[in-house]
Amino acid sequence: MSVNIAIDGPAGAGKSTIARKLAHEMSYIYVDTGAMYRAMALYFLQNKIDSGDEAAIGKACGTVEVSIGYEGGEQQVLLNGENVSGQIRTEEVGNMASAVSVYRAVREKLVELQQQLAANENVIMDGRDIGTCVLPKAQVKIYLTASVECRAKRRYDELCAKGAECSLAEISKDIEERDRRDMNREISPLRQAEDAVLVDTSDMNIEEVVSVIRGICKEKMA
Ligand code: DC
Repeated sequence: MSVNIAIDGPAGAGKSTIARKLAHEMSYIYVDTGAMYRAMALYFLQNKIDSGDEAAIGKACGTVEVSIGYEGGEQQVLLNGENVSGQIRTEEVGNMASAVSVYRAVREKLVELQQQLAANENVIMDGRDIGTCVLPKAQVKIYLTASVECRAKRRYDELCAKGAECSLAEISKDIEERDRRDMNREISPLRQAEDAVLVDTSDMNIEEVVSVIRGICKEKMA
């Protein structure tokens, strides 16, 4: 039977950095489910489908194809066969992903793909509903969080390092808005699973977080 590790938490808590490192260390496959929602969002943006138009979004879900591949151990997301991994990392796509992830048609399509990936492989999967909905039987569940200020500052530093122009106040506002939407949507809202371990990374660096989660995995899998 495959081993599944679920990491959930709000935007900017460091899920992908931590999950990627641990997956590499443990020779597990890393599955970034946010990237799948982002690929769908990119499709809606490219085709000028409004985030409020549930009927058009539902119809598009029937034809659009999202799939996952790996190149040198790195997850690649394909949208209708085209690798869009580089195009999905903007704030605009992230906000659109949050807006359209409220719809059942979008979630059902992607949850099925995520469950298929985890069925036959040892995976570390990160997202918002992995421990509560996608992999309820995961052997290890982590809820990774940090204060809004801390998450906004990390994202600000990341964008500045890439040479992007940005405002800390605006990023903070976006993060709060995304939290509100992800936590309050009707279907599979972001919340800590009852059997998940809470890790607050506000005062930790990456190595400290990896070390804490490594310890939790060892204990749960012993
Ligand atoms: O983790 P991320 O920022 O790439 O995710 C983008 C959005 O996708 C997030 O705000 C909500 C949605 N999402 C979701 O609803 N469920 C998941 N498992 C992963 C992401």
